[in-house]
This record gives sequence, structure tokens and C-alpha cells, in this order.
Amino acid sequence: MARRKKIYEGKAKIMYEGPEPGTLVQYFKDDATAFNAQKRATLEGKGVLNNRISEFIMTQLNRIGVPTHFIRRLNMREQLVREVEIIPVEVICRNVAAGTICKRLGLEEGEPLPRSIVEFCYKNDALQDPLVAEEHITAFNWATTQEIDDIISLTLRINDFMSGMFAAVGIRLIDFKLEFGRLYEGDMVRTVLADEISPDSCRLWDIETNEKMDKDRFRRDLGNVTEAYAEVARRLGIMREGPRAANDETLQ
Ligand code: ATP
Ligand code: TYD
Repeated sequence: MARRKKIYEGKAKIMYEGPEPGTLVQYFKDDATAFNAQKRATLEGKGVLNNRISEFIMTQLNRIGVPTHFIRRLNMREQLVREVEIIPVEVICRNVAAGTICKRLGLEEGEPLPRSIVEFCYKNDALQDPLVAEEHITAFNWATTQEIDDIISLTLRINDFMSGMFAAVGIRLIDFKLEFGRLYEGDMVRTVLADEISPDSCRLWDIETNEKMDKDRFRRDLGNVTEAYAEVARRLGIMREGPRAANDETLQ
């Protein structure tokens, strides 16, 4: 069988040419990075879990009418997605203070924010994804005003939906990062959710104990990283049991 064409290899995923024009295969690796890739590790089973969790969330979002790039999961580590032109902005939505906003604004970790806050970072590894304002985004033509409006309203809808979804299984959605892209359909262009939503890109705390169930376990050397991801999957009803199931072929 001919080897597929690799389009891009990032830190956590590989994008291959898809079976039809306009599609890509998104492959989830076990690699974990933090602090602008200065810290690296391989976490066995992480890619399988993120593939399943992202599939689950994107499917639910599609059902409530949020347009996403997701088409279907292909196997344990791969999903078929629509190819989009990625808008070079990372969109962060926060409900509770954690991570960089604490340092930047002198907030206490765990402090509820007065309302949900949407922030933008310019997607540029060499510059370490700096925080930018809407002014920069439109001035440098990274996105139009209309696209920013669409992104903000979709992000707030996704936040409402995911906050409820996680709360129902005893998890508090602290913050998360989204990426959006332009989907060209004939003469039309639509803003759709792309990339992934997983414990790599969200902060998730147990509602009762505040235990971290996300990538902060890796960032802060708290241990049991994949076990925590597997617990998120288990609570969402995606996986039957603990971390071992992540590598169980029967889960296809
Ligand atoms: P960076 O986003 O800075 O490249 P990364 O190395 O962590 O960071 P990965 O998540 O490993 O990125 O790789 C996935 C890449 O594919 C990202 O650049 C993401 O923007 C891009 N991508 C995600 N979904 C799509 C899509 N539907 N069409 C085109 N590109 C996509
Ligand atoms: P943030 O507090 O800005 O940065 P850090 O994770 O470095 O402390 O992150 C807010 C949320 O967005 C958090 O859940 C992690 C996620 N995120 C990513 O997944 N990728 C990124 O490049 C950034 C900046 C944030």
C-alpha cells in the first residue's frame, strides 16, 4: 500500500492527506510537550484517549449545530476531518483563574472570574504565542471583524455546552483553547471549529476535590497523567474502564 502523504507534523498530532480532496487524516501521537516544547515526554495511550475524547465532544457539538471540521473517527489514533485554512489565532476561554492569567493579573488560582473571558493569542511558536487584542488580529489581517464575531459567539456557545457536559459528570471546566478555520464550499466560506478538544487543551478539575484531570498533571509533574485522561473518558461514558482500555484493540 502506498504511504500516505504527510502534510504537517506538529507536537501532538500528524496531519496526512485524506482519502478525498478537501479531507485530512488527523493522527494523535502520544507525545506531550509543555512550556513551548522545552519539556517533552511520551505518555503511552494519550493519543488514543485524546482521539476518543475529541471525537466525543466534536460529535456532540455538531449535534447542537456548532460547525466543526470533524467527519468521523477512523481507528484508535486517527480521525477524518475537513481540511480548513487555520486562522492563526488560539482562542482561550476562561471561567476560573488558572495558568498564565494568574501571573499576568495577579489572580489566585481557582478564583472564579466575574464572567467568562475570551482571549486571543497569535499562533506563532517562535514568538511563544503572544497574547494579542482584536485590533492586532484585524490590523494584520489574521481574521476579519466578522470572523472574530463568529469565533466569539461560537466559543461562548461551546463554553456553555461543555461546562454543562462536564459538570454533569463531576468535572469543572476551568479554561480551554480552541482553533478555528475557514472552510471553503464553492463561493462560500464558513468559520468552523478545528484541531482538537481534549485534556491537552482544557483545564478540568474534579468538582468535589479540585484534583487536576488535565495536562497540568504533566506540566507540574503530578504523575498519573494518562490515568487522569482515562478517568475523564470514563466519566463521559466513552471508555469502559481505566487506562489499560486505552490500548485495547477491541475499543475500535
Ligand atoms: P501548532 O498549532 O503551533 O502547529 P502543535 O505542534 O501543537 O502546534 P499539533 O496539534 O501537533 O500542533 O498539530 C496539528 C496542526 O494541524 C496544528 O497546526 C493545527 O492548527 C492544524 N490543524 C488542525 N485541524 C486542521 C484542519 N482541519 N485543517 C488544517 N489544519 C488543521
Ligand atoms: P494558559 O493559562 O494561557 O497557558 P498555560 O497553559 O501555558 O498556563 O492556557 C489556558 C488554557 O488553554 C489551558 O487549558 C491550556 C490551553 N492552551 C493550549 O492548549 N495551548 C496553548 O498554546 C495555550 C496558550 C493554551
